Amino acid sequence: MAKRIALIGGSGLSHGLSGFDVAEERPVDTVYGQTSAPLQFGQLAGSEMVFLPRHGGSHSLAPHKINYRANVSALQQSGVERIVAVNAVGGITKDMGPGVIAIPHQLIDYTWGRQSTFFDGEHNPLQHVDFSDPYTAELRQLLLAAGSNAGIQCVDYGVYGCTQGPRLETAAEIERMRRDGCDLVGMTAMPEAALAREMGIEYAAVCLVVNWGAGLQDEPITMAQIQHCLDQGLGQVGQLLHSFLSLVD
Ligand code: HPA
Repeated sequence: MAKRIALIGGSGLSHGLSGFDVAEERPVDTVYGQTSAPLQFGQLAGSEMVFLPRHGGSHSLAPHKINYRANVSALQQSGVERIVAVNAVGGITKDMGPGVIAIPHQLIDYTWGRQSTFFDGEHNPLQHVDFSDPYTAELRQLLLAAGSNAGIQCVDYGVYGCTQGPRLETAAEIERMRRDGCDLVGMTAMPEAALAREMGIEYAAVCLVVNWGAGLQDEPITMAQIQHCLDQGLGQVGQLLHSFLSLVD
């Protein structure tokens, strides 16, 4: 039987995913508190899927206020075995200009103060999980194959640097991240990816680049620019996801 898939949607997907037929919205209680929104169970392109808007249904949750533990725990309780995350990100290295879709392979965590583990010795005994490869290799390959089947060009690598936000970075912070080896910058991959690993859920991401990182473009980064790139790029992300679901179903 096909593994149950959840999509965690980021900026631009708070009001839902085009083509997704919601059969049921279900609030799920967790010991960690409330999820960003009720889970939506339904079908995309004829395939069963669960959808969760990461920033809440009205896009009001800042990245550091998202209850990542509740989100991942609720998905796990609902039988989800694979999470595909969608992230809007800034680009840092040369292949990662606005409009690019990248399937990242690595992560660096610059966040602080977020509840970032299930294994805190309080809810569960302390444990240290292997996180050498934060994104599940097989799931990444399926997303890349889906892109190729749908004729959507995807960059097949990317080190995602996760910052605290909600402010954007300084030019010096982006320059430091470039020296660290980051290709992409966003605010929500962590602790989401680590929590999925702790729960044994496969995890991979589709990153849509919506601006150059701070200091790398001549104009200031504006919400209007980000929105424009989301409007331009989310159609392709949707096609990629359709193609992915038909591949795995
Ligand atoms: N920095 C951090 N997060 C982002 C950016 C950025 O430049 N663009 C979209 N999400």
